[in-house]
Amino acid sequence: MAETSKTYKVTLLPGDGIGPEIIAEGVKVLDAVGERYGFSCEYTEALLGGCAIDVCGTALPEETLRVAQASDAVLLAAVGGPKWDTTDPDKPRPEQGLLGIRKALGLYANLRPVRIFSALADASTFKPDVVEGVDLIIVRELTGGLYFGARERFYDEEGAGVDGGRGQRAFDTMEYREYEIERIVRHAFETARKRRNRVHSIDKANVLETSRLWREVTHRIAAEYPDVELIDMLVDNTAMQLVANPSQFDVVVTENMFGDILSDEASMITGSLGMLASASLGDGTALYEPSHGSAPDIAGLGVANPLAQILSVEMMLRYSFGENEAADAIANAVERVLADGWRTRDLANDADSAEKIVGTQAMGDLVVGALD
Ligand code: IPM
Ligand code: MG
Repeated sequence: MAETSKTYKVTLLPGDGIGPEIIAEGVKVLDAVGERYGFSCEYTEALLGGCAIDVCGTALPEETLRVAQASDAVLLAAVGGPKWDTTDPDKPRPEQGLLGIRKALGLYANLRPVRIFSALADASTFKPDVVEGVDLIIVRELTGGLYFGARERFYDEEGAGVDGGRGQRAFDTMEYREYEIERIVRHAFETARKRRNRVHSIDKANVLETSRLWREVTHRIAAEYPDVELIDMLVDNTAMQLVANPSQFDVVVTENMFGDILSDEASMITGSLGMLASASLGDGTALYEPSHGSAPDIAGLGVANPLAQILSVEMMLRYSFGENEAADAIANAVERVLADGWRTRDLANDADSAEKIVGTQAMGDLVVGALD
């Protein structure tokens, strides 16, 4: 127990879909560990995503950003849903809220740890010997690349189709500055030093100019870390290696879009996208969110897996508050609940007995119960 009682200011962004259901479980667990380890949290809830579009007409209201900037950490659930789906470039989209807050808070480093909970070995679609011992972390660049480059959609005579009536053209731009590559790669090498001293740098240097710059910068930084092994890997090969032999990876560093795609792929090694937490770090307030989306198809049903959200709280305790014992307690509690056979629907398979399949709230309660 800590001697003095600390209070952390946490901004809650429940967002859309299953967001409000899973964030409630994250808060439940956070409060429960706080009681046990001598700290408390003061929460401010704010709007982001589709719900913000409904109320304010924009996915990232100024008030939300102000609240987030003034807090010690931000806990986000998920944004988006069919209600706000549009291909019209002039209409607001929920994802603009997410990208906007990442950029505004300067969260360039997105950490997505992929670890195997031994109890879930049979929930994975992989053979047990392939996933055994997998413990990797994706370090995804989060504020550059295609997500933030110049883009446009316009009418262009030359782009007209054979019928002559349709002539739209569109482009997105992938652009990186040297310092953007440098800081994320450095982050990866520092992370590797605390782990197994191996960095895979993922690019498409056989085709893309941004990747060739990425590779040069990475090798220059690598010279400062002679104790860390650096392996260049092309992104297509990485997609294959991740399913063929995932245990070869320790730290995987890559640009924004490659990291987005590879992290969804890597999450399935653990059995479910519902297990993958993430931390987004910059120089100020950090943000923690599950890597999965808002799952509109199961919103409101009380069946969503809250574990990625709960494990995001674990990361918050570690990276923002330095409450490592409390963080360990959450990790152990999740391990224990799974080892006891409890599953949400997404993790269950035929071997699991029906009475051990629980909903969102029950899973949160089980984790709290396993803290002691
Ligand atoms: C993620 C998500 C987001 C992204 C979407 C919702 C904009 O897929 O966090 O991985 O692409 O970054
Ligand atoms: Mg994604």
